[in-house]
Amino acid sequence: MDEITVDVRNLSKQYGNFKAVDNISFAVKKGEIFGLLGPNGAGKTTTIKLLTTLSPPTSGNASVAGYDIIKQQKEVKRNIGWVSAEIILDDDLNAWENLGLQAALQGITNWEENADNLLKYFELAEFKYKNVGKFSTGMRKKLEIAMALLNSPEVIFMDEPTIGLDVGTRKMLWDLILIIKNEYKVTVFLTTHYMEEADQLCDRIAIISHGKIIALGSPTELKQKAGGYAVNLEVNDGFDISSLKNFHILEKNKSKILIEINSKDNMLDVLRSINLENLKSINLITPSLDSVFLKLTGSTIKETEESVDYRKFYSMVRRNMQ
Ligand SMILES: Nc1ncnc2c1ncn2[C@@H]1O[C@H](COP(=O)(O)OP(=O)(O)OP(=O)(O)O)[C@@H](O)[C@H]1O
Ligand SMILES: [Mg+2]
Repeated sequence: MDEITVDVRNLSKQYGNFKAVDNISFAVKKGEIFGLLGPNGAGKTTTIKLLTTLSPPTSGNASVAGYDIIKQQKEVKRNIGWVSAEIILDDDLNAWENLGLQAALQGITNWEENADNLLKYFELAEFKYKNVGKFSTGMRKKLEIAMALLNSPEVIFMDEPTIGLDVGTRKMLWDLILIIKNEYKVTVFLTTHYMEEADQLCDRIAIISHGKIIALGSPTELKQKAGGYAVNLEVNDGFDISSLKNFHILEKNKSKILIEINSKDNMLDVLRSINLENLKSINLITPSLDSVFLKLTGSTIKETEESVDYRKFYSMVRRNMQ
């Protein structure tokens, strides 16, 4: 059986009458990259604050790295790393001094060798004695992550690690997160707004909305669950449409036919039944996580051309289903 690193049981956080986190339960497996995905105000940061013991839960409990977040806060803190969305670096100090400060704050002894290795791994070694105030945003992020790994944690929590980064820097950070998982064998718990990020990076994703977990699974499972696969046919005049009588046609005009299918594999069924005469092209339309999110929450996280396309697609699917 998989070893569990974060075990969340009926966890809630209430501010006055408002439930920021509403009775959530899930488990994060050792060594995986787990993503908590949700729109603004969904409860992502609150969840991270509860799990990192920065804020006590109203009810429920969780264990992190085997320790109870209510009764064993010190042990939890000793075994986790945390990267917040806010800047935590001291600009007047150099990289090495920032690492030293982190070690002092956390009471980590003999940190130097680990720090040197981290700087090397993250390609910051040559900037060891450079003032952090002159670092680029990407370099700062790398240093913050190195600092969070200084105590060799079992699990690292990252609250929107790539927010505000350009595409190139984001990709660099994804590679770094994979290094953390693969080389350092650290479990990664991250929150994000970016569908693409969750899709590419996470082994499993929990979608949170209004404080509740509304879906959980691997990106593929979630996409499969939400459906949205389709086959697009480009056809010439005279195409034999009767060969498609057993399929659900979503859209049809002179040159294009869109057929709904339940999963990727059903494309083969279409191919087997179709009369190939007058068929110009055939291609599979795969749902994006954006479309999954949209379907589950009725809202989209990040407007991309793709998500707008899928919004059209889903309203079309809904229309066809009525
Ligand atoms: N200290 C607090 N007092 C009162 N309400 C709070 C407090 N902290 C958070 N909230 C509310 O709880 C809800 C969840 O906030 P949270 O910061 O967890 O959302 P989030 O998913 O991280 O959103 P974002 O994507 O904007 O960072 C929000 O409606 C927020 O206003
Ligand atoms: Mg947040």
